[in-house]
Amino acid sequence: MDTDLESLALGRVVPSLLDCGFFYLDNFLGELIGECVLDQVKELHDSGQLHDGQLAGGWSGVSKRHLRGDKIAWVSGTEEGCEAISFLLSLIDRLVMLCVARLGKSSIRERSKAMVSCYPGDGTRYVKHVDNHNADGRCITCIYYLNKNWNAMEHGGILRIFPEGKSYVADIEPVFDRLLLFWSDRRNPHEVQPSYSTRYAITVWYFDSEERAEAKRRFRDLTASSQERSTP
Ligand code: OGA
Ligand code: OGA
Ligand code: MN
Repeated sequence: MDTDLESLALGRVVPSLLDCGFFYLDNFLGELIGECVLDQVKELHDSGQLHDGQLAGGWSGVSKRHLRGDKIAWVSGTEEGCEAISFLLSLIDRLVMLCVARLGKSSIRERSKAMVSCYPGDGTRYVKHVDNHNADGRCITCIYYLNKNWNAMEHGGILRIFPEGKSYVADIEPVFDRLLLFWSDRRNPHEVQPSYSTRYAITVWYFDSEERAEAKRRFRDLTASSQERSTP
């Protein structure tokens, strides 16, 4: 398994990220384990643990479901009933860690929690955006899709990437057991097209630790100075 993962990392993921900025792969976990992950995600959904996603940049608290229509939960993997999700996360961690040196990104040493997301299938979408447009530390976006018998003609829900400076787009269907990685910055604007069937995915963001620390310092300075202003 480890040599498989290593050849996947060095033979396919790294060259693809360096050449075109994204990479995807099918049958990442296999049917059986993939289904366990799907069951856990459905359970989070069915038990009402998914809530409206928020937009970055000052939109907090305002409903912008027409811009971003997914329902999400942040999961660390240690929660009860998230064992298969945890297994998925550990496998993605190992894959990414095998890539970072060759990507010249040894400063990737941490990641976000996992964002479990569901587009409920009512035609909502996520408008074109860049995940990391302001140096917030996110370096690689990694999405695992969970949708059996997905038919994009009927169900929509395509992730369209608009690679910066290129004349083509990349359409990625959110099919079961597919893993996608792409650079989180301005190189990869992307959108989720309107989805007409329940669309599940799990996303993690790998941080450039130095950029992340700098972003946290900036944020602290910002909140400190606004507190100074509001204190007479
Ligand atoms: C964004 C974004 C995801 C999140 O709005 O740019 O990608 O919740 N947000 O961190
Ligand atoms: C996001 C996003 C893409 C997808 O949440 O920032 O772009 O395919 N999701 O779910
Ligand atoms: Mn995004």
